[in-house]
Amino acid sequence: MTFDFSGKNIVITGGTRGIGRAAAELFAAAGGNVILTYRSDAETAGQTLRALTGEGHQIYQLDVSDPPAIQNFFSWYSDRFDKLDVLVNNAGVYLEHKILETDFENWQKNWEETIKANLTGPANMCFFAVKLMARNKYGKIINISSRGAFRGKPDHPGYGASKAGLNAMSQSLAIALAPTGISVHIIAPGFVETEMAASALSGEPGEAIKRQSPFGRVAKPEEVARLIAVYAGDGLEFTSAGIVDINGASYLRS
Ligand SMILES: NC(=O)c1ccc[n+]([C@@H]2O[C@H](COP(=O)([O-])OP(=O)(O)OC[C@H]3O[C@@H](n4cnc5c(N)ncnc54)[C@H](OP(=O)(O)O)[C@@H]3O)[C@@H](O)[C@H]2O)c1
Repeated sequence: MTFDFSGKNIVITGGTRGIGRAAAELFAAAGGNVILTYRSDAETAGQTLRALTGEGHQIYQLDVSDPPAIQNFFSWYSDRFDKLDVLVNNAGVYLEHKILETDFENWQKNWEETIKANLTGPANMCFFAVKLMARNKYGKIINISSRGAFRGKPDHPGYGASKAGLNAMSQSLAIALAPTGISVHIIAPGFVETEMAASALSGEPGEAIKRQSPFGRVAKPEEVARLIAVYAGDGLEFTSAGIVDINGASYLRS
């Protein structure tokens, strides 16, 4: 599969490791100009930046849970770039808060933190991104959801809710934005081999998760990145509002 993103500006939130990093590497190798954001890990962000093919890529510290910080990011962005072609809302958190075991303080804290990072953050990123995209009547928004939106996340209920909300928001925006030339795509991975899933995938419980798929494994970040690039390219605008599973047939939804 070959991609060409020459001349395209691509913003990836949480782009310094895991799925985001794999996507950044793919876009950069395909000639794209990548702008990565990260929350706190500046060292990893710098390493990722240095590993990208080509020149001119940028990193920016941004906590997507913080609405004024998003506004500042787009002000910074607009001073440097005249257009935005692709936004990948990838940053996310996976916080445990088991309803029968956690106290109310932790329940509430992890619920709020999850919704702010996984749902409100992408909503606010979209708000500013579409202003830039609409100017050129061109834009692709790729929102990274999860199998958990459909299958349930008993130990991470805020996470499941945030991703279900992300799906619904993306579909509403897809309808609102279609006349402006902007399409909104939703990718719903099952487990992926990244730091986020590392503890879930360790030991016998991890092997049980791998056996959920008839392939006997979970996804690699590079596989999710390829799917992101497919939807970020031209020709699939008519799939706007669609949710694409990448879970190795581990869960079939109707
Ligand atoms: N891994 C899986 O099994 C899996 C399955 C389904 C869906 N997903 C989704 O795929 C996306 C990427 O996951 P991943 O597995 O690649 O995660 P990861 O390895 O944990 O990386 C998460 C990235 O998001 C950033 N981030 C976290 N909270 C942030 C915030 N509030 N503001 C800005 N950046 C923030 C992190 O930055 P710092 O390093 O600076 O903190 C990091 O770059 C997430 O939306 C996740 O929900 C993952």
